[in-house]
Formats: sequence, structure tokens, C-alpha cells
Amino acid sequence: MANELQSITDAIRERFNTTKFIPLHVPQFWGKEKEYLAETIDSTYVSSVGAYVDLVEGQMARLTTAAKATAVVNGTSGLQVCLRIAGVRTGDEVITQALTFVATANAIAYNHAIPIFIDVDQDTMGLSPKALRAFLEEFADLREDGCYNKKTNRKIAACIPMHTFGFMCRIDEIVSVCTQWKIPVVEDAAEALGSKYKGRSAGTFGQSGVFSFNGNKIITSGGGGVIVSSEPQYAAKAKYLTTTAKVSHKWEYVHDEMGYNFRMPNLNAALLSAQLEEFDVYKDAKRTLYNEYQDVFDNSSLKLVAVPEHTEWNYWLMSVMAEDKEQRDMFLNETNGNGVMTRPIWQLMHRLPMYAHCQRDAQNNAEFLEARIVNIPSSVRKR
Ligand SMILES: Cc1ncc(COP(=O)(O)O)c(C=O)c1O
Repeated sequence: MANELQSITDAIRERFNTTKFIPLHVPQFWGKEKEYLAETIDSTYVSSVGAYVDLVEGQMARLTTAAKATAVVNGTSGLQVCLRIAGVRTGDEVITQALTFVATANAIAYNHAIPIFIDVDQDTMGLSPKALRAFLEEFADLREDGCYNKKTNRKIAACIPMHTFGFMCRIDEIVSVCTQWKIPVVEDAAEALGSKYKGRSAGTFGQSGVFSFNGNKIITSGGGGVIVSSEPQYAAKAKYLTTTAKVSHKWEYVHDEMGYNFRMPNLNAALLSAQLEEFDVYKDAKRTLYNEYQDVFDNSSLKLVAVPEHTEWNYWLMSVMAEDKEQRDMFLNETNGNGVMTRPIWQLMHRLPMYAHCQRDAQNNAEFLEARIVNIPSSVRKR
């Protein structure tokens, strides 16, 4: 086993053709980033309004085929705002998966709401429509003004499925179950820019979808996020709430509810605009890496995780499945000890102290994956 893990580590290193440290995911800047940034500085429009903010919103609407897009300061704040627009209020509950990055659960908590954790499917690693249906059949009570949890008597005000590592969860089934129970769906598409399910873009199935452009994503704005929605009025509402709920007026400061300063600065939008122009090139480069990894893991006891059916993948973060937790830890040890960065999947949300009390189902698949999945270096390689 030790020999096998060592030769896998060497093979990963060969793919990146370096003797130096290999990070998990770092950005590349091959396009017009410097030009657009310099132009933005020269224009003095470096802050929260500017031509690149408008440009990025147009580029994102086109790329996802959503009606409109709204640029925000990061993905987490985008999720927070979308939940508020969905009608989530203090004391409500929001369904999500325990197998996610902590930002998903935090966005719920920032709205003073409480997460409910439902299991994932093993192949997609995203929210399981089957588990969701079973939970709602057991606990949900459909009333005039929405869906209530019979156990807590709280409103289940929204559902956030997450597209793990860019794999698509069974989002059409999830939306259909939620529609039946009058639960709005906000897609956490932070990791899924460019991924499609049955030919349709991530982020466009629910009432809204949120992308992240943090530095570890395929393309980055340094920090940033974009909200998309297929409802034409949605972007106006999102823009208003993320711009301190300011009512348009020639000179007065009129704010008619509590809003946020969650706008994406034009400087970050300039970077993102150039990155969006290179998106297809990066995606192709990542597909090539994944194909090479197929050879590396072909006859190995660690299995390269395969793309689930109906997903057109963006190849964001690649992963392998160990036989068990012991092998997972040996692999983490071998790679990280030899300058090849790998990481386990996130600790499940109900293990974190602030979410330990939340209602959840059995989590069999999430726990299975937690013990076995390891992310491997997935950056676009230098040209
Ligand atoms: C699943 C998931 N949700 C939400 C976020 C939050 O995005 P951001 O870091 O832009 O706030 C991220 C990424 O960082 C993520 O991976």
C-alpha cells in the first residue's frame, strides 16, 4: 500500500512537471487582466459602480442563460441575500446538506434561521431528492402560507442544495419536490460555474443561484460572487438590497428597509471580466488534466471519482475515493508530506459546534463520503 501511494504521489507530481510544492487550486491570469485593471485605476472607478460591474453582469447572464445577474462582494453574501428574498425570516428553518462548505450553513444563520441537514446522494455528493422527499413526508405540514415542520412548528422557508465540486445534484427532482411543498429553492452554485444538468446551467433551476469567484475557484475576481435568476424582477431586488436598500432619487438618501453594502467593486469586476473571457480555455485545460488522472488511477485501489450521469462538468475540484478512512489518512499523509497538497472533504456541518443541535436525517451517504473522499491538485497548469 505504501508503495502504491508513493507512486501515485509521484505521478501527480509528474502531471504538474515541478519539484516544487503543488497547491490544490490556484488561479491563472492568461488574458487581459492587467489591461482591464489598469484601465479601471485610470478611470478612478475602482469602487462599487463602474463599467466592469455592468459588463460582468451581462457576461454572467449570457454564460448561464439566466435572465439577469447581480454582482456581489462574495458568494456567501449572495446566498444570504437570496435567502432573504426567498422570504426567510428570524426563527424559520432552511433545508440544506451537511456535506457542504460552512458558508452555506452560515448564510442561513446570518438570516437568524436554522439549518436542517438532509443527506446527499453518493454519486453527485449533492442533496438527495429521495432523502428530501422522505424527510418532508415525515415532518412537513403544508399550510396556507407555506410549509411547516411538525416537530418544531417552525416554517421551512427555503431549501439550498449545493453542487459539490461542480458536480450537479439531481436539481430538477429537488425543485419538483420543493414546489410540491411550497419551498423556494436557492442553488448554492458557488463551485459550479459552467456546469450543466441535462443541458441546463447550474443556478437556473431554482428561484435563484449563487456563484463564487473566490481565489480557489476556476476563475476569480479576487473575492466576489454573482447571483443569477430566471425571474426578470429578481436582479432589481437583489441590486437594491445589496446597495443598502437605496431608493432611486436624484439627490436624497432614501433607504426604506435595512439593506447591505454587498456590491462587487469595479476593480474586482475588471479582473473577473478578463477571467470570464478565458473561462472555456481553463475548462478545457482542466478536462485534459482529469483525463490524465484517469490513467494515473486506472489500476489503483484509490478510485478517481467519476462524473455523475446527466452532468456536464466544469472540472473544478477533482477527487479520489479511498477504500476506507485509514487509507484516506495514509494518502493525505503521503501527499501532504511530499509537497503535494490534498485535502479531505469538509467536516459535516452537524459536527461543528454551532450546528450540532440542528435537526438532521441519518446522513449515511454523507458519512460514507466524509470518510473516503480526498481532493487532489486540480489547477489549470502553467502554459
Ligand atoms: C459550496 C460553497 N458555498 C459558498 C461558498 C462561499 O463563497 P465565497 O467564498 O465567495 O463567500 C463557497 C466557496 O467559497 C462554497 O464552496
